[in-house]
Amino acid sequence: MDLNDIIHARRPVTLAANEQKIPWDEPEFSQRMLENHLSQQHDWASRRFSLIEQQVEWIAGQLPAGARILDLGCGPGFYTQRLASRGFRCTGVDFSPAAIDHARREAQRADLSIHYQQQDVRRFVATTPQDLIMMTFGEFNVFSAGDARHLLSHIASQLRPGGWLLLEVHTFQAVQNMGMAQPRWESCPQGLFLAEPHLLLTESAWNAATQTASTLWWAITPSGVTRRFGSQTQAWRDEEYLVLLEQYDFRQVQRLPEQDWPSGSDFTDSLYVLLARKAQDI
Ligand SMILES: C[S@@+](CC[C@H](N)C(=O)[O-])C[C@H]1O[C@@H](n2cnc3c(N)ncnc32)[C@H](O)[C@@H]1O
Repeated sequence: MDLNDIIHARRPVTLAANEQKIPWDEPEFSQRMLENHLSQQHDWASRRFSLIEQQVEWIAGQLPAGARILDLGCGPGFYTQRLASRGFRCTGVDFSPAAIDHARREAQRADLSIHYQQQDVRRFVATTPQDLIMMTFGEFNVFSAGDARHLLSHIASQLRPGGWLLLEVHTFQAVQNMGMAQPRWESCPQGLFLAEPHLLLTESAWNAATQTASTLWWAITPSGVTRRFGSQTQAWRDEEYLVLLEQYDFRQVQRLPEQDWPSGSDFTDSLYVLLARKAQDI
C-alpha cells in the first residue's frame, strides 16, 4: 500500500469486513493497549481508578453478599478485581490476551479467586446463572445491530430470573458525532496502532440509514509502509434501547443518574448506564 491508496481511496469511508473493530485481540496491539488501560493520565481505554472505585462502590451497594457477577469485555479486570475483593464471585471475559494475562496476575497477587476467560463475549457461556452481568464503557455499541440483538439474548440466557443487566451505552448523538468528525492527522513517535514511529491519518463517516459511524485510520511509517485499521460503532436512540431490552425480556429498565454512575468529565452526555432486570416469569 502506498500514499496513492490514500489519495485515491473511496470516500466516504468504506470499511472492509476485517476492519469493523480495532485489533483488540492481537497480542502486540493488546500489550500496547494495556499500557493505555493502566495509564492514570487519561480515561480513554479504561477510566481512572478513582472513578472506577466510585462505580464499583455503587454496584456493590445493590447486590447481596456473594452475588455472582459476570463482566463482559472486562479488560484488565479493574472492576472484577475490586468486586471480588468485596466478596462477590466474579467472572471476567475479554479477548485481549494482554488484558486477561494482567487480570490473572493481579488476582493471583491479591489471592483472589476470579475466573477469567480469554474469549469473544459472543461465544462465552457461563456455567452458573449470574446475578448481574455488566458491559461497560460503550462496548455494546461496537457490535453490529444483529450482533447486539444476539448478545442481549445470550446475556439474558445467562442471568437468573430477576438478575440484573448493567449496560453502559453511548448516546445516539455521541456516535453520530464520531461519524461526522473532520479528517485529522497526528504524529505518533510511539503509538497504539504500530510500535514504530508513524503518522496517523483519521477519517470518519456517518451512515444515517444504518445509524453507524465508521472510522478509518491510516498508519504510515517513515519507510512508507501504510497499514489500515477500522472501527464501526452502532448508534441507538434512547427509545430504541428500551424497545430492544424489552424484546429480550428485560424489565424495569432505568437510566442511572450521573451521581450514581459518574461517567467522567470526558464522557458526560456521551455515555450512560441502563439498568434492567431479567423477567421473573421465564
Ligand atoms: C474500552 S475497553 C473497556 C475495558 C473495561 N470494561 C474497562 O472499562 O476497564 C473494551 C474491552 O472490550 C474488549 N472487547 C471488545 N470486543 C470484544 C469481544 N467481542 N469479545 C471479548 N472482548 C471484547 C476489548 O478487548 C477491551 O478490553
